[in-house]
Amino acid sequence: MPTMGHILAVDDTPASLRLLTDILKAEGYEVRSAINGELAVHAAMAHPPELVLLDVSMPGIDGFEVCARLKAAPSTRELPVIFVSSLSDTQEKLRGFEHGAVDYVTKPFQRDELLARVRTHLELHRLRHRLTEMVEERTRSLRESELKLKSSLLESIMAIAATVEMRDPYTAGHQRRVAQIAEAIARELGLSDKQVEGLILACVVHDVGKVKIPAEILSKPGRLSHLEFELIKQHPQDGSDILKEIDFPWPIADFVMQHHERLDGSGYPSGLKGDQIMLEARIISVADVIEAMASHRPYRPGLGIQAALKEIESKRGIAFDADVVDAASRLFRDKGYQLEVIGHD
Ligand SMILES: [Fe+2]
Repeated sequence: MPTMGHILAVDDTPASLRLLTDILKAEGYEVRSAINGELAVHAAMAHPPELVLLDVSMPGIDGFEVCARLKAAPSTRELPVIFVSSLSDTQEKLRGFEHGAVDYVTKPFQRDELLARVRTHLELHRLRHRLTEMVEERTRSLRESELKLKSSLLESIMAIAATVEMRDPYTAGHQRRVAQIAEAIARELGLSDKQVEGLILACVVHDVGKVKIPAEILSKPGRLSHLEFELIKQHPQDGSDILKEIDFPWPIADFVMQHHERLDGSGYPSGLKGDQIMLEARIISVADVIEAMASHRPYRPGLGIQAALKEIESKRGIAFDADVVDAASRLFRDKGYQLEVIGHD
């Protein structure tokens, strides 16, 4: 049978303590008793009850001190404490409430009044406890669904990325490697974890608009005709159109839209200049050029990292953001950062 409640009764006068425990036990409560403050604190800490009935005047540590100690410990902080005392003046009662008591019963007490107060505070304590549990439970399940959402977002992104790379085997892995370089540059520049996360997602799909370009053009060796290049130039817009349908916590569609823009307005599709281009897009453009030049293409061998660095450094502050270029140079030239070894993919 579930107990009505677990109460710790504290009083230094054996007769009072006996009276108190008898009344409570007769009512069906489970009662432990303590005859001084030290024992009360010890008992409450060892096995926290659901309520404490506490005498105020006791030798050694008195009721106020016991209450203060219980309120200071995490395991007993929430315990409701009712003072039971023959001191009836208002100052004493106030002191009790200041020490964190929930109620005050004056001796000699009426049995029914005592029981009514005990019932009320036990009930309140249980409701409060239940509420805390419900909040914790709700927080936990919210966190879980947030994680689930995040991983399904990542899955859809990877699926989109795989789609474009499937049609364009020559640039397979390009987006992933651009993401690695961009992440290293972003960390070098001191971007926040949250910003880096959005940047990586954008990199992994930055060429998704190429799904609209005929595969023959994508894998065509040699120079592209004017018309073919015009088609290629549409891929940031097409990618952005695909991505803006998805509700990301970052403006991923804008990053993708701007990844071929250049600081001096020589880029495409909009010819944006300087600050009109978002920092993330400026990082992607540098990482994109480094990766594209360094890796192999069907119509040419990889030009190597040195040539790629030379290219971006020669356009530092002109086409490419100076800070971004400097960060890339530091990484590759001073800090030993290396591109992932690229196989024949
Ligand atoms: Fe691109």
